[in-house]
Amino acid sequence: MMIHTQDRDGVRVITHDSPPVNALSFALSKELLEAVTAAEGDPAIRAVVFTGANRIFSAGADVNDFRGDPQPDAKTIRDVIAAVERGSKTYVAAIDGNAMGGGFELSLTCDYRVATPRSKVGLPEIRLGLIPGAGGTQRLPRLIGAQAALDMMLKGKTVSADEAKKKGILDEVAEGDVVEAALALIARVAASEPKRRVSQRKVEIGGGIQAFALPYVVAQAHKMCPPEENGGFAAHKLVDAVQAAFELPFPRGLAREFRLFDELVRSAPAQALMHLFFAERELAKVPGLPAAEPLAIKKAGVIGAGTMGAGIAITFANAGIPVTVIEPKDEQIGKAKQMVFGMFMHQVKRGRLTQEEAWKLGQSIVFTDDYAELSDADLVVEAVFESMDVKRQVFQKLDQVTKPETVLASNTSTLDIDAMASQTTRPEKVLGLHFFAPANIMQLLEIVRGSRTSPQTLATAFKLAKDLRKSGVLSANAFGFIGNRMLFDYAREVVSLAEEGVPPHRVDAVLKGFGMAMGPFAMFDLSGVDVFWHIQQARPEMGSARTKIVDRMYELKRLGQKTGAGFYTYEKGSRDPIPDPEIERLFAEEAARAGIARRTGVTDDEIVKRAIYALINAGANLLKDGVALRPGDIDIVYIYGYGFPPHHGGPMWYADEIGVAQVYADVMSFRERLGAQWEPSPLLAEIARSGKKFAGYTKELTHA
Ligand SMILES: NC(=O)c1ccc[n+]([C@@H]2O[C@H](COP(=O)([O-])OP(=O)(O)OC[C@H]3O[C@@H](n4cnc5c(N)ncnc54)[C@H](O)[C@@H]3O)[C@@H](O)[C@H]2O)c1
Repeated sequence: MMIHTQDRDGVRVITHDSPPVNALSFALSKELLEAVTAAEGDPAIRAVVFTGANRIFSAGADVNDFRGDPQPDAKTIRDVIAAVERGSKTYVAAIDGNAMGGGFELSLTCDYRVATPRSKVGLPEIRLGLIPGAGGTQRLPRLIGAQAALDMMLKGKTVSADEAKKKGILDEVAEGDVVEAALALIARVAASEPKRRVSQRKVEIGGGIQAFALPYVVAQAHKMCPPEENGGFAAHKLVDAVQAAFELPFPRGLAREFRLFDELVRSAPAQALMHLFFAERELAKVPGLPAAEPLAIKKAGVIGAGTMGAGIAITFANAGIPVTVIEPKDEQIGKAKQMVFGMFMHQVKRGRLTQEEAWKLGQSIVFTDDYAELSDADLVVEAVFESMDVKRQVFQKLDQVTKPETVLASNTSTLDIDAMASQTTRPEKVLGLHFFAPANIMQLLEIVRGSRTSPQTLATAFKLAKDLRKSGVLSANAFGFIGNRMLFDYAREVVSLAEEGVPPHRVDAVLKGFGMAMGPFAMFDLSGVDVFWHIQQARPEMGSARTKIVDRMYELKRLGQKTGAGFYTYEKGSRDPIPDPEIERLFAEEAARAGIARRTGVTDDEIVKRAIYALINAGANLLKDGVALRPGDIDIVYIYGYGFPPHHGGPMWYADEIGVAQVYADVMSFRERLGAQWEPSPLLAEIARSGKKFAGYTKELTHA
């Protein structure tokens, strides 16, 4: 049984108990429906209380149920809600812990809602490309006004109990046993207003706005949503549903919501977002890796207080892990302190931290030049210059000054983890932790496994990623790991397009139109053209250009934002890229020198295909070589690390969406026209020929 019932003085208490989060699966819904039907048929029962075991009310529908084939006979939370709506008893939701999605919608169907102070409520469906589908879009506007409801649902916002009480979502916030509070409330309202369905209320817009202004409010709401084809598919449907709540009688509004929901659940963006939801949950599962207990990380060290070091230190502090930063240069310490202080003050200004909390967090980051301060650190991340000589020395030193069990990590982007591990007496405790800039903001963390990294060290890294609220993705110790390895091919292709005569600003505009958070050339200007130049020096085979354009830019100090010019120019103090005819001239000159023909009539479609299929082909090779574990891991890397549009699910999911055979055919035509850099990955060819998809592909890892 997934529910328990208990009768208390004519009140039936129904407790959902389906660990870990009381997900409202078909199975649980069936039991709930039977329990509601039984309560309705029992004359001795006057009221029903819903509550949840496992310190949670319910996390909502079971997303697994949306993935499989439709099961027309299955009972869903909608059926439970319909039975409550029809019922004659008083219903109260007694919430302790989260009430999300369908769980919150069940509570909205009740006559009263009581919650403990630690509880939170919300309708996060939009994050999965869906809208609430069990009456949420019709009931929440009736409870708190259309505008406030829309705001909450469009942002998928979670609201604390206190805030929910203020908004009028909760009737009571109660300390102690929430079921007792619900029973007391029932006793209190029995004589006055025992039954009070939300569905019977009238919808107001809220904020003192009169009903006749509805068309204006609706138009504004649509305007604020991203375009339908570019991440806003569900958002516009949500506005439609709330408009229906306002304009239609309750049952018809509900029918409209159901229809919109059903359309969304089958839509490509929702399928892509659900794929990411599951991919995220797979990340820490490494086939063949023996189970191991993660080490506790109570204190951390960071070496180098540069761009990355400071951001990594903030990340530890935010997770409640005190951190010591080693930096030899006073000037760098000064800069890093300023950056840390500025960041925490910004949080105070935005109301996310109190002065006192910010002060405490600041105190948990200590700067020093003395390595001996690391004697009690459980984990150290080095973020010194990208030079193997410097890193070697740092690892030797760390091996001497830290406890034997301390985990030693490198934040390197391109260097060999094994070469660093070999400098220590504990190679099994060494790995890469590749943060992305700015480290305190970007959600991606590549966890790089050296040839001797132990299962326990990896387990520690996955646990740490979770504690730091990052998505930790496992990569083999291969050049560029997952993300940057793919970036090289992407860069090569967009630079090729510019060499053929497509202006960089057009490439950027087209790829932003596809949904990339940033155009590639603007992104190169942000990271610095010198980064690519250095990589070209170290690894000529990774060179991103057929011409000498990168050398030319390096000579001309066109290094990007930091020098005021790169692929764009920048006004002093501004980060806004300004298209520059000079760069187009440079490209033309270098192309002529290299004998590359200029083309006219390059279509937007070709730009998207060349950039994105380069990612797909590189991704396929990473899977084939076992550098990445799963297609979903690559998708997460590209979405959280490089701004790939989530509604396309990541490069590998997108390949499935287009059809791998189609992608392969295009890659073959590029191979013919553009040369060997377009050699299709054998895995791409294999999947195309078999008519299968990337989804579901896993390889017995070479690095497992
Ligand atoms: N900047 C990025 O976007 C980015 C992203 C991911 C990874 N990385 C990697 O992170 C590392 C650091 O990059 P960064 O951009 O922060 O560099 P940075 O030049 O901003 O900072 C390096 C810092 O390390 C200090 N340092 C040098 N030798 C040291 C030593 N022996 N002991 C202690 N401190 C020392 C320097 O004084 C400097 O403050 C590199 O390996 C880089 O490849 C950088």
